[in-house]
Amino acid sequence: MNKNNPKNGQYYLTLAIESSCDETSAAVLKDGREVLSNIISTQVEEHKKFGGVVPEVASRKHVENINMVIDEALEKANVTLDNIDHIGVTYGPGLVGALLVGLSTAKAMAYALDMPLVGVNHIEGHICANYIEHKDLKPPFMCLIVSGGHTHLAHVKDYGVYEMLGRTRDDAVGEAFDKVARAMGLGYPGGPIIDKLAKTGNCEAIKFPRVYLENGSYDFSLSGLKSAVLNYLNSQRQKGIEIVEEDVAASFQRAVLDVLVKKAIDGAVEKKLDTIVIAGGVAANSGLRHMLKEEGKKHNIKVLYPPLELCTDNAAMIGCAAYYNYKAGKISNMYLNAVPGLKLGSV
Ligand code: KG4
Ligand code: ZN
Repeated sequence: MNKNNPKNGQYYLTLAIESSCDETSAAVLKDGREVLSNIISTQVEEHKKFGGVVPEVASRKHVENINMVIDEALEKANVTLDNIDHIGVTYGPGLVGALLVGLSTAKAMAYALDMPLVGVNHIEGHICANYIEHKDLKPPFMCLIVSGGHTHLAHVKDYGVYEMLGRTRDDAVGEAFDKVARAMGLGYPGGPIIDKLAKTGNCEAIKFPRVYLENGSYDFSLSGLKSAVLNYLNSQRQKGIEIVEEDVAASFQRAVLDVLVKKAIDGAVEKKLDTIVIAGGVAANSGLRHMLKEEGKKHNIKVLYPPLELCTDNAAMIGCAAYYNYKAGKISNMYLNAVPGLKLGSV
């Protein structure tokens, strides 16, 4: 049989592995967009007691879990390794020790089974989560990628072709949520907790800064806002004034969203795109979803986002990206290494 045709003659089956941060995940996909299984073993409880991800702990947990997670993904999809056409794996960006666990596993399997190996950029995976949910979605579109480690505004020109319009110059959006939540003593991860509190708070109670940077810039800067919130908390505590958590959460979240939403809409208008897609862990934020949808309506721009389970790290999104890479002939070799600082658009 022609090696480029699917093994079963009809559709491709991708096995995907993700281990860049604190979730160990494996998935099986049919023709890139249909998820047959997506097993996620999360380490959140493990890292909670430290208030953030401890890289060494993450690597050890990945080692403990990875084989089980892969077996479960194959079993749930009701397939065996003989049915799989190619293996997709995240090789960056992320924590180097964590990435190496998934990557070494994928390389060993690809070598032993004589199967194509497809390295995937984790950020590209987040974008592709939208292809899984929205079956008609096709490039071009504008994508706002907001996660714990990344904040980008990208013009997705075609499958795997990106024009980066802007990125954060300091903290990522999810990181700012997590740091503010930690300063408020709310626990980890902070994003979902702030999102929930913000629903019942007054977003105009405290005037936090909106940082738009130079005119026309699509870059972001979160550290000034984060410092403003920390200063506010300190000064209230020093004065012995009670902190209304809901109001701080709502005012902080609104200051973040005002900037994110404006830049995403401006970018789409400038590039004459009728669709904005949100990706990454912060795409789970209910305020962001709502506000971007409402602003989009005013400009005839459709706003799409993945379901909650595909917003945070998972292997299904990596499998979707691997499928499109494979179709484009972007196949890796056994020298593929983990690249902790991998950028979107780089190889
Ligand atoms: O994409 P992700 O799972 O991991 C990275 O690749 O970074 O994103 C995790 C981030 C965390 O910072 C978490 O606080 C944030 O996504 N997050 C949220 C929400 N759910 C998760 N931030 C704001 N609102 C949420 N509902
Ligand atoms: Zn992620």
